Amino acid sequence: MSPANDPAWWTTFFDERYARVGLHGIPDDATGEAVTFITDRFDLRPHDLVFDQCCGVGRLALPLAARGCRVIGVDLAGAYIDRARADADARGLRCTFHQADAHDFVAPEPCDLALNWFSSVGYDAGDERIPLMLRRAFESLRPGGRLAVETVNVARVLAEPRRWHVETVTDERGRAGTLIVEHTLHFDRGMIGMRWTFIAEDGVRDERYAETRMWLPHELGRLVARAGFSDIELIGRPDGEPITASGRRLVVSGRRPS
Ligand SMILES: C[S@@+](CC[C@H](N)C(=O)[O-])C[C@H]1O[C@@H](n2cnc3c(N)ncnc32)[C@H](O)[C@@H]1O
Repeated sequence: MSPANDPAWWTTFFDERYARVGLHGIPDDATGEAVTFITDRFDLRPHDLVFDQCCGVGRLALPLAARGCRVIGVDLAGAYIDRARADADARGLRCTFHQADAHDFVAPEPCDLALNWFSSVGYDAGDERIPLMLRRAFESLRPGGRLAVETVNVARVLAEPRRWHVETVTDERGRAGTLIVEHTLHFDRGMIGMRWTFIAEDGVRDERYAETRMWLPHELGRLVARAGFSDIELIGRPDGEPITASGRRLVVSGRRPS
């Protein structure tokens, strides 16, 4: 089933296998580097409250809480929320997790920083829904609070299209396997499509599709500004410098005006 004939593909794509291969499979040092970047760049202090919009299994929420922040996470995937909550409880971390649609959910307390990390905004091909998620992030912040949206740097994809790559991974049942990720640019719909094929060592094959919006950095910056944010910055990752076509990833940051 592809996003073209399954317009709500994200309600089934984010399952146990994706959690193991796509999220837990991210090396700890890459996640640690992201957490350090977030902490330093947005001047997070112990006891600050972070809103983690589309938090997944708590990949960022848990280490941020381990550094002393309080975290409110929301994700649509109930199993991810259950896991994040259980992990936080087991480690005594100050996190609360909510299963909800981020287009609707507003954090119950004003937060210091709102994160939307790892290409979690932009799944819907229509122009109507996406601003709602950014607006909910705005409404979750205290005046002066910061936003950080992290996603693919489309400028780099266009400059150096990398059509596919192969990784060796382990699935949720501990089986080794090969993951083939193939990208297609859908200029007609303004989407980057991704075919994700997992082939387990016993030959069993799982093929699934995802896609995300193809915004140039300034276009996402304008959407963030339209949601009410000021002080928009377009930051390249991993270098943390103003975005160019060479950064693999893009962070758009903004501030809720005081
Ligand atoms: C690529 S994962 C990133 C997870 C997490 N931010 C991280 O960096 O590990 C995208 C996440 O967005 C969640 N998601 C997708 N659509 C959502 C929605 N409308 N509301 C809340 N969560 C959503 C998925 O369930 C998934 O956990």
